[in-house]
Amino acid sequence: QTGHTALDYGFVNTAATKSAITFIDGDEGILRYRGYPIEQLAKNSSYLEVAWLLIYGELPTGDQLGEFDEKIRRHTLIHEDLKHFFSALPHTAHPMSVLSSAVSALSTYYEGQSDPHNPEHVELNTIRMLAKLPVLAAYAHKKSIGQAFLYPDNSLSFVDNFLKLNFGVLSEEYVANPVMSRALERLLILHEDHEQNASTSTVRLVGSTGANQFSSISAGINALYGPLHGGANEAVLDMLGKIRDSGEGVKRFVERVKNKEDGVKLMGFGHRVYKNYDPRAKLVKESADEVLAELGVKDPLLDLAKELEEIALNDEYFQSRRLYPNVDFYTGVIYKAMGFPTRMFTVLFAIGRLPGWLAHWNELNTDPQTKIGRPQQLYTGAPERNYPGM
Ligand code: SDX
Repeated sequence: QTGHTALDYGFVNTAATKSAITFIDGDEGILRYRGYPIEQLAKNSSYLEVAWLLIYGELPTGDQLGEFDEKIRRHTLIHEDLKHFFSALPHTAHPMSVLSSAVSALSTYYEGQSDPHNPEHVELNTIRMLAKLPVLAAYAHKKSIGQAFLYPDNSLSFVDNFLKLNFGVLSEEYVANPVMSRALERLLILHEDHEQNASTSTVRLVGSTGANQFSSISAGINALYGPLHGGANEAVLDMLGKIRDSGEGVKRFVERVKNKEDGVKLMGFGHRVYKNYDPRAKLVKESADEVLAELGVKDPLLDLAKELEEIALNDEYFQSRRLYPNVDFYTGVIYKAMGFPTRMFTVLFAIGRLPGWLAHWNELNTDPQTKIGRPQQLYTGAPERNYPGM
C-alpha cells in the first residue's frame, strides 16, 4: 500500500446529497413527502396530487390539479410506430426489461424536444412520462399474456385508465372495481418517493450528466429491477410460493435464513434506512385484509406472510439485526388479488416511483450548484510497480 488513502489527500467525506423532497427517520419509522406524513397522504390524497406535490413542492390548487390531470389525459397516446417495438421482443421477456427499453425507445420520438435547459421541454416531458409510462407498462403486460393492446380512455381517471389498459379486452366493456381502484391509488402513493434509494440515486447520477428525463428514468427502471430493491416484491411472492409448495413450513424456512443456507434471505424484510417497521409496510398490511375481503379473495399466501412476520419479529436473529417488513413484504399479495401476474409487480413499483424520479431529476436539473456525479473511491489496489524489464 502507498500508506496514503483518499482521506490523506483531504478527501473528507463529501456532504451527502442535499434534497428538499422527502424526509425519512429510519429509527422512528417516519416518512414525509415535502413535510406531509405518508399516512395522511395515502389516506386522503391521489397519485397525481402527490406527484404535483413532489415535483413542484406544494400541494396543487384545484385548478392546477385539474389542468395537470387534463394535460396528462391528453398525452396518453404513444406513436403508432412505437407499438411495433413490442413485437420485436419475445413474449417471455420480463416486463421490467420491456419497460426500460420502451422508455428509451419513447425518447427517440422527442429528440429535439428534450433539452434539460428548456423549461418548456422539461415540463412537457414530465407530462409525457406520467401519461405514457402506464400505457407502456400495460402494453408490456398485454404482450406477456398475448392479448391485444387497448387504447387509453381519456374519460377515465389515471388509475382506472391504467386498470382498463391492463384488464380490459376489446370484446367486452370494462368497468374498474372501485375497491381495486382505491387500493391501487393508495399503493402507488406509498411508492412515489423514498429519498436517495438506489433507483432514485441512479436517476440523479444519470441526470447529473445532462441526460434528459427519458434516459434518466430508463436507468432508474433498470436499477429498480434488482431483487434487493424493487424486484423484492416479486421475490416475496416467489418465496411464499416456494415455502407453500415445499411443505417445509415457515419455521424450517426461517432456520434456513438464519443459517444463511444457499444465501437465502427473508425477502421483503430489512432496509438500508428503516431499522424499525417501514411505515409503508404497516399501511399496506392494513389494507391487505380489507382489499382481499372486498375482492372476495382468500389467499393462503397472506396468512403465510403473516405467520412469517410473526415468527421473524419474535426471533433474536431478526431483532438483533433490526430487520422488519419493508414496503415489498405485503404489496405482492394485493397485486396478485387484483389479477396482476407476479412479474408485473415491480412494474407497478416503477409507476409508483415515477413522480419521485421526476422530482429528483427536476431538483438537480434546476439547481445551479449541480455538478456531475462522481462517487468517491478509496483505492485498495496494488501500489506502484514497474512493467517487467522496465
Ligand atoms: C426497497 O432504499 C430504499 O429506500 C429502498 C426502498 C424504496 O422505497 O426505494 O425502500 C425499496 O428496495 C426495499 C428493500 C427490498 N429488498 C428486500 O426486501 C430484499 C431483502 N432485504 C435485504 O437484501 C436487505 O435487508 C437490504 C438489501 C434491503 C438492506 O441491506 P442492508 O441494510 O445492507 O443490510 P445488510 O445486508 O448489511 O444486513 C445486515 C445483516 C446481515 O447479517 P450479518 O452479516 O450481520 O450476519 O442482516 C442480514 C444480513 O445477512 N439481513 C438479512 C436480511 N436483510 C439483512 N437476513 C435475512 N433476510 C433479510 N432480508
